[in-house]
Amino acid sequence: VVKASASVEQFAPSNIALCKYWGKRDRELNLPINASLSVSLDYLGSHTRLIPTEGQVDDVWLNGQQLQPGARFSQKVSEFIDLFRRDQNLYFKVETRNNIPTAAGLASSASGFAALTLALNDALALDLPPEHLSIMARMGSGSACRSLFTGFVEWRMGQRKDGLDSHGVQLEQQWPGFCIGLVEIDAGEKATDSRSGMQRTVETAHLYQSWPLQAAVDLGKLQQAIAERDFELLGQTAEQNALSMHATMIASWPPLLYWQPESVAAMQKVWQLRSQGLQVYFTMDAGPNLKLLFQRADRATLLQHFPNLETVEPFGC
Ligand code: PMV
Repeated sequence: VVKASASVEQFAPSNIALCKYWGKRDRELNLPINASLSVSLDYLGSHTRLIPTEGQVDDVWLNGQQLQPGARFSQKVSEFIDLFRRDQNLYFKVETRNNIPTAAGLASSASGFAALTLALNDALALDLPPEHLSIMARMGSGSACRSLFTGFVEWRMGQRKDGLDSHGVQLEQQWPGFCIGLVEIDAGEKATDSRSGMQRTVETAHLYQSWPLQAAVDLGKLQQAIAERDFELLGQTAEQNALSMHATMIASWPPLLYWQPESVAAMQKVWQLRSQGLQVYFTMDAGPNLKLLFQRADRATLLQHFPNLETVEPFGC
């Protein structure tokens, strides 16, 4: 019998995929159809605190607000904790604070489940190695398996049916001056979550058949770009990868379009700046917001065009 210790708190960073994960080969275990590659966002992410309670249900709080036990997020968290507690009588007050907008395509579920995994590992004194923590986090949200690590991270899709070889692997940790900028178009909750979005795409878009090949080619290009610090290759590959993923979504039925008119306007602004010689690229997830990829030397110029840009340097200053 495991005894939960006093309150514990853990942090995990959000991550932005440069080669996206889109499509599951196993929906129970969150096993992906393709490998993906991301960069973790340093201090932007989730702080999760676990306090053992005497109650018979988990008490879930998000950004200072208590959730109803029946709320979707609350249920997801409780089901995730079930994987750790099994049939033991162990319940927690779970307090998660995101310093990024929740559910707006800025991957707060990734940092949330990664921080929760780390906190459960501490609370239950499990002492699991990083790869096992990554596998556990994957069960909460696929992309969470990448948030266990800093810097560039590859999620190896694995071959096994039990998913024990499908986890994040830490890659390069240094790229001074590499910047990410968050262009917030809409911080509201998105209408279609990534789980149902992926399922719809896999089941209805014929175009999806080309996705695993696109992702495999892009993964190779990104590995090369990271090894050679080739920013242009990295930016081009990430942008094309994101647009290819969105093309498969748009080709689903009913159509799945996460963009808003302002998203398209921001894309066009990026293309215009690039035609003027600025090395800036974008990527987008299952939401209307853009994430810009650029280098520190161009930060001031970029801020003139995107005044509200929140910028992060994943590898520090
Ligand atoms: O981990 P999920 O189920 O929230 O899916 C994430 C999907 C994307 O953000 C669109 C792509 C990715 O690799 O992060």
